[in-house]
Amino acid sequence: MEKMMESTATYQATYERMHSMMAKIVPEFELREKAKLVVEINKLKRERNAIILGHNYMEPALYHTVADFTGDSLELCRKAATTQADVLVFCGVEFMAETAKIINPSRQVLIPSKKAGCSLAQSITAADVRRLKAQYPGVPVVTYINSYADVKAETDVCCTSSNAVKVVEALGTDTVIFIPDEYLAQNVARETGKHVIFPETDPRKLAQGQTAIDKVFVGWHGKCEVHEKFTVGDIERVRRQFPDVVVLAHPECSPEVTAAADFAGSTSAMIKYVETVKAPRYLLLTECAMGDNIIAAHPDREVLRLCSVRCPHMAQITLEDTLACLQELRYEVVVPEDVRLRAKKAIDRMLAIG
Ligand code: 13P
Ligand code: SF4
Repeated sequence: MEKMMESTATYQATYERMHSMMAKIVPEFELREKAKLVVEINKLKRERNAIILGHNYMEPALYHTVADFTGDSLELCRKAATTQADVLVFCGVEFMAETAKIINPSRQVLIPSKKAGCSLAQSITAADVRRLKAQYPGVPVVTYINSYADVKAETDVCCTSSNAVKVVEALGTDTVIFIPDEYLAQNVARETGKHVIFPETDPRKLAQGQTAIDKVFVGWHGKCEVHEKFTVGDIERVRRQFPDVVVLAHPECSPEVTAAADFAGSTSAMIKYVETVKAPRYLLLTECAMGDNIIAAHPDREVLRLCSVRCPHMAQITLEDTLACLQELRYEVVVPEDVRLRAKKAIDRMLAIG
């Protein structure tokens, strides 16, 4: 009886907290259902000595309730490296969970859905990277964290959207192979005084013993299926309606879009911007759920977002599947040891750069 009263009180407190944050974003009947899942997930987390890492793109009813740590790819990677929990549930996409396993292999790393891929990560294979390295021998390979373990294993150093400029500058070379995101390459090249060439359209080759062509990034035609859809026309149309809007874009957007925006940065950098720079309203050019998360935490901020463009992979991670993940300890992330060790070197090198 006492137990029943306690669980009713826990449910009520959970529901009320969710309602106070999300009443304007999530309909009440859905909040009531989600609150039940949240209570179960938080109970199982304690029983299994598990933690949940939640990417900034998770839906608000998951992001603000069950995630022990939230952040962008780099922040979650750092957290995964140091956690002492037995079980690490990654509420994000597969390459993120894989990265956690690579850097902290003694933990059981789980992902709630097997369908949470990424268009960038799947745009390039390890064999593609080996071909590029053969074409440009001696040129360091910088690989965006949105890639799979076997691609990272072929890489000198990884980067995320928040540290890519720093990583390239730390290498100190004129030429780098920068893969797989074409637009991130163009955005970072602009910031580091370089430009991007593509092997199939640029005939320049390295001469024997030469390790640099010019101040160039050798790029790859990978794109984020979400960020590639935002256009300068979108920005212009919103600015016509709201001349005082501040536009924030993720660096996976085209260089034309980031140039037209007021600010470009990682998901956490965008959140921090909204939190610290007061403006009448903001337009976020990134996955729509992140705008919901900001509004839930900061109801005084007016955040516009273009929700017809969604990440279908991030959307695979639901509260229902997160509960099943903890109940059945599924789906375990496994990385072959030889691949893991080589991929870890590239991630460690990135983490050491900062
Ligand atoms: P962040 O590292 O900025 O969180 O980006 C991850 C991502 O997949 C963006 O689409
Ligand atoms: Fe990949 Fe784009 Fe989805 Fe990020 S938003 S996980 S880059 S498809």
